[in-house]
Amino acid sequence: MTLPSINPTSTKAWQKLKDHFEASKDLKMKELFAQNKDRANQMTINWEDFYVDYSKNRITSETITLLLELAEETKLKDAIQAQFSGEVINKTEGREVLHTALRAKATDTVLVNGKNVIPEIFEVKEKIETFSNQIISGQLKGFTGKVFTDIVNIGIGGSDLGPAMVVDSLQYYKNHLTTHFVSNVDGDHVNEVLKTLNPETTLFVIVSKTFTTQETLSNANTIRTWFLEHAKQEDVAKHFVAVSTNIEKVKTFGIDQDNIFPMWNWVGGRFSLWSAVGLTISLSIGFKNFDALLSGANAMDTHFKTEDFDKNIPVILALLSVWYNNFFKAESEAVIPYTQYLTQFATYLQQGIMESNGKSVDRNGTKIDYQTGTIIWGEPGTNSQHAFFQLIHQGTKLIPADFIGFAKSLHGNQDHQDKLMSNFFAQTEALLNGKTQDEVEAEFESQNISSEKIKQLTPFKVFEGNKPTNTIFIEQLTPESLGKLIAMYEHKIFVQGIIWNIYSYDQFGVELGKQLANKILKEFNNPSFDNHDVSTLNLLELYKKLR
Ligand code: F6P
Repeated sequence: MTLPSINPTSTKAWQKLKDHFEASKDLKMKELFAQNKDRANQMTINWEDFYVDYSKNRITSETITLLLELAEETKLKDAIQAQFSGEVINKTEGREVLHTALRAKATDTVLVNGKNVIPEIFEVKEKIETFSNQIISGQLKGFTGKVFTDIVNIGIGGSDLGPAMVVDSLQYYKNHLTTHFVSNVDGDHVNEVLKTLNPETTLFVIVSKTFTTQETLSNANTIRTWFLEHAKQEDVAKHFVAVSTNIEKVKTFGIDQDNIFPMWNWVGGRFSLWSAVGLTISLSIGFKNFDALLSGANAMDTHFKTEDFDKNIPVILALLSVWYNNFFKAESEAVIPYTQYLTQFATYLQQGIMESNGKSVDRNGTKIDYQTGTIIWGEPGTNSQHAFFQLIHQGTKLIPADFIGFAKSLHGNQDHQDKLMSNFFAQTEALLNGKTQDEVEAEFESQNISSEKIKQLTPFKVFEGNKPTNTIFIEQLTPESLGKLIAMYEHKIFVQGIIWNIYSYDQFGVELGKQLANKILKEFNNPSFDNHDVSTLNLLELYKKLR
């Protein structure tokens, strides 16, 4: 089946949601809580080690009913089935979307062109396991017989962000190997990394689905040249491995057949950390932990695939996001993890969410007249409280936020954990309730402040409140729970793409800039530049003069 093309704004549910929005947009969450003592329980999904409370949203039970009707009318159930069963739902690229197969069980069957792909996925997993064990244990050694101490992941976009985020997030579980990530074509990036490395003890993992990406190939070439300043050509085989679908190009680069970890076209780059693209993860935290990450994602897949929509975490989060994006016209969403480990999480999600759903043409090829992809941003709390929270609390913009917190810390310092989590709970409570004029005045009065001063300062101290948040409260940050969390957002992306009637799995929007950059690069060697707008031409000429 190809995905149906249903304009969401033409559904009955959308019209009902529009009316419902007009009637409910000024509702105060505080009052809704007062009216219904059971609201928090009714709007919480408790699943395995996840407690997802979405009661602090500007919704009523009717909002959820209508959003669920929207999911039904846009045929979400069929679409989920189509994705998991390997239909070619990435129609614009003619591909299946099967990152979920990468974390499936060995006993599962997933057909691509009539062939079960699970055995080859497990073959590659075995190769990852063997190689990781050999490097970690020191069985495989560098060209001078020394054990490896450093791993460099060379890749960009999905071939960098996922592994980089997971390695950083799970650093508690890391072994002795030091991992580095080289992504930017900015030569200063690669040189800063190289200056810390010993070629005798460093393993380079070149990750590129296509093996044609300018940044990755430039960095890989620069690194190989640097390596060959210290070693011989035949030593390359011991120090360079590659992950790609493009086996021929990898061989042409000079990587040994044995050192190639294959992946498949049915895995999108931004959803590929579960494949051999995650090799650096496995090297860094060990295969067992990498596999646990996959198991966690698989558990979330089962939840997503089988749970009724009203208790389905990714579905509910996606629908709430549609509610704010399309009815409240919120432009962005914040993701605030209350753990320093998830520092790179929002950056990682930016590619997943914005590269997938930043589309303005529907599945019929028609220009869309409603909003699609949200802008995603965020930083860990409590740091972000001291940076941008002012705007969320008292600014003019509506910014729905996901608060992600963990009950137990990893190092077990309870004093710090209690302080961290008191902030986690306090912020969503503050965003919900705000602070009324009466409360501000009462506080001033208790401080013996003059009535003139109170009158003058009160407007600045009032917090409107009524700011929506989801609380995603998890027992502890483990490879499993991180796998669940990432998969949760992947499925949220999918649901939104289905509802917005767009193709989430292509990314043609990144092409134009690439093409122009290649053209300009060539022009640097010409006596004069081709035809450009005057602004660009001035800049190019100035660059040529100054470089
Ligand atoms: O930015 C475009 C893009 O194609 C991403 O989708 C992808 O993750 C990235 O470039 C890297 O691509 P590759 O893995 O083929 O080098």
